[in-house]
Amino acid sequence: MTILVTGGAGYIGTHTVVELLQGGHEVVVLDSLVNGSREALHRVEGITGKAICFIEGDVRDRALLDELFVEHSIEAVIHFAGLKAVGESIEKPLAYYDVNVHGSLVLCQAMAAAGVHRMVFSSSATVYGEDAPVPYMETMLRGRTSNPYGSSKAMVEQMLSDLCCADKRWMVTLLRYFNPIGAHISGEIGEDPQGIPNNLMPFIAQVAVGRRRELAIFGDDYPTHDGTCVRDYLHVMDLAAGHVAALSSLQHAGVRIYNLGTGHGISVLEMVNTFERVTGQTVPFRIAPRRDGDLAAFWADAGKAERELGWRAERGLEAMLHDTWRWQEQNPRGYVPG
Ligand code: NAD
Ligand code: WQD
Repeated sequence: MTILVTGGAGYIGTHTVVELLQGGHEVVVLDSLVNGSREALHRVEGITGKAICFIEGDVRDRALLDELFVEHSIEAVIHFAGLKAVGESIEKPLAYYDVNVHGSLVLCQAMAAAGVHRMVFSSSATVYGEDAPVPYMETMLRGRTSNPYGSSKAMVEQMLSDLCCADKRWMVTLLRYFNPIGAHISGEIGEDPQGIPNNLMPFIAQVAVGRRRELAIFGDDYPTHDGTCVRDYLHVMDLAAGHVAALSSLQHAGVRIYNLGTGHGISVLEMVNTFERVTGQTVPFRIAPRRDGDLAAFWADAGKAERELGWRAERGLEAMLHDTWRWQEQNPRGYVPG
């Protein structure tokens, strides 16, 4: 199949493109490069020995999309393109609704006009909201989101559900990711945040490689076994494989929803300790005040994806941390050389 991967030059996108190419699919990547990199795609070509058709452009650009669908026989779309920084979304809500919601809307309109009705959409565990009991299950209703980023994901989920109700040609899978970390085993591609990392794993890796002095652990007084927050971290290559599985199952009209997580929670302190043990690096840290909006603990019920997609996370925490460190050590400044 020829797959359009929007946002394919970003963190999860590049790892998924590796899986797609290795699975025999043809790939067209559309990315504005606002948070992705051409170098990452060159490296994907190096890993796979296959060429990627790359189009630099914006997912909100309807004319560009129309042209793209004429020039390429796209059978399905994996839609990663979007903005993802929770804190920034509170400061710039319009930018988040524009790119994430309006961008998805324009993409769907262009797909409909081109007769392409299959989509895998990057959603997030954040749509379960603030009050959901753990583990999160797909049968639960979406909850009250606490920031525009989360709201934008919930809105797109709703839009895609309404679309599938109205037009039975559409086949859509919403993948609710938990916390993806890790990197391709080659160390050639990985997570390369711009500026100060918002997320735990890249922050730990940058402290270990000497780019940052110490990690601030946001709160040690949560009602968890060691007082720090608990999350369901999964390897980005497992997540990538989940997209290929979801693509193969896009055979029936309507919306399907799957959690992609391991089903296990890990605390921040466990992450730091395990990283130090696995890599032999020291990660200085201090306990800082809680970060606004953080929930104490959540993880996935990952059973539905296993039953229906035949997918489950295969790689354990040690592999996630080894692979993160290999990437960071080989690329101390990310995709910037030197
Ligand atoms: P990323 O920022 O690395 O990748 C997103 C890509 O989209 C980037 O390459 C960026 O340049 C591109 N992009 C942004 N705006 C665009 C636009 N208007 N037009 C075209 N391209 C555009 O992020 P990621 O971690 O790879 O996340 C991919 C998707 O998964 C996002 O939709 C994100 O919200 C979602 N998601 C991520 C996580 C996570 O923890 N990383 C968790 C849940 C969901
Ligand atoms: C994990 C834990 C922090 C950084 C976010 C989004 C979510 C999803 C994934 C897209 C928390 C703690 C972190 C640091 C710390 N993204 N932490 N020091 O918050 O679970 O999820 O990314 O959909 O929507 O909200 O992930 O990696 O930011 O934090 O102590 O410097 O690490 O408090 O407990 P989070 P995270």
